[in-house]
Amino acid sequence: MAVEPFDTVDLIRTKRSGDALATAEIDWLVDAYTRGYVEDPQMAALAMAIFLNGMERREIKDLTLAMIASGERMSFGSLGKTTVDKHSTGGVGDKITLPLAPLVASFGVAVPQLSGRGLGHTGGTLDKLESIAGWQASISNDRMMQVLSDVGAVICAAGSGLAPADKKLYALRDTTGTVECIPLIASSIMSKKIAEGTGALVLDVKFGSGAFMPTYEASKELAQTMVDLGNDAGVATSALLTDMEVPLGMTIGNALEVRESVEVLAGGGPADVVSLTVSLAEEMLRLAGLPDADPAAALADGRAMDTWRRMIEAQGGDASAPLPVSREQHVVTAPSSGVLTEQQALPFGIAAWRLGAGRARAQDPVQAGAGIELHVKPGDTVTAGQPLWTLHTDEPARFERALESLDGAWAIGTTAPERGPIVRERITG
Ligand code: URA
Repeated sequence: MAVEPFDTVDLIRTKRSGDALATAEIDWLVDAYTRGYVEDPQMAALAMAIFLNGMERREIKDLTLAMIASGERMSFGSLGKTTVDKHSTGGVGDKITLPLAPLVASFGVAVPQLSGRGLGHTGGTLDKLESIAGWQASISNDRMMQVLSDVGAVICAAGSGLAPADKKLYALRDTTGTVECIPLIASSIMSKKIAEGTGALVLDVKFGSGAFMPTYEASKELAQTMVDLGNDAGVATSALLTDMEVPLGMTIGNALEVRESVEVLAGGGPADVVSLTVSLAEEMLRLAGLPDADPAAALADGRAMDTWRRMIEAQGGDASAPLPVSREQHVVTAPSSGVLTEQQALPFGIAAWRLGAGRARAQDPVQAGAGIELHVKPGDTVTAGQPLWTLHTDEPARFERALESLDGAWAIGTTAPERGPIVRERITG
């Protein structure tokens, strides 16, 4: 039996004391955890020590590189096109990947979006697209390269071979209260994105009540940490800090969000979704060497819609088929007249999840039609009795708990709240 070069308990003690781990220690730790020598309770103790005491920039980089080295690394070099990817830290009603990938691809740039399913209150891109009749999330690497070459955009399931150490660690963090930690989130996200082989990457880092990080400053630090990790690894990376105080757009839930995305691709859609889609597209195209490209024009003239249809059809989807609609609906009406002053993202996300739009366990199914359709947003004037939002589900027994989540999550007052622009800051290396 090979002799292990380090003692796991020593490494735990080092982090417990707030000291830094050496590069060789981190390399060994990640490898030994992936092969099962370091056990889950030991890794949980380390994750908690990191959560409490943090990591130096060099340690975060080492952790990221070690997690990349735990699995395969993809390459899009044979495509002969610039590749650019987008990653969002997740938010309520965040359907931006759907219009964004075909929009950017309509400029001749390749957009490989390796995505996941939703867990908890943030929806998964694959769950949304699976509400389109026939659409398949899982395709082979060869097929992915073919679609990228022919259409330019592909949104598909990430293979399990990318950063397996992160997969194991993320699942452990999820059950040990160690998710909301900048070094661990940054290394987790960036190990997968760098292993994916994209040439450039734009991060949409959320702040506000529906975001991972509790404050604007913490979201900014997360963004800067990830931008530095990407650029250090040779991936041109920048980030936009974007508002997640209120749900994005007017829909939360799988088919409802596809419908709204198609409205954006048709040149319409809610102003916040359009604005964020165009800002992220501009940033992606800038990194891809096309600073003068005009994504708003490509939404208006149908180029992005053409690419969307080809992208959906390349994965077996019928882009013209009607989207599923929930069997039951419940309308919440305004109890008084005034101005909507509050609409907190997180409780609305939880309500949509309770209606069946999301899952509690990885193996649970989701309802395609479930979710919430918003009829008003903060700042809108409302009249007593007017519909505020419609709850959708196939199972009416779910309405009660969804309504409980919305209790206290919104308010009608007299003065419109002040709201800044959705994109608050751009972070570069
Ligand atoms: N998403 C990830 O992939 N990892 C995290 O740690 C948090 C969000």
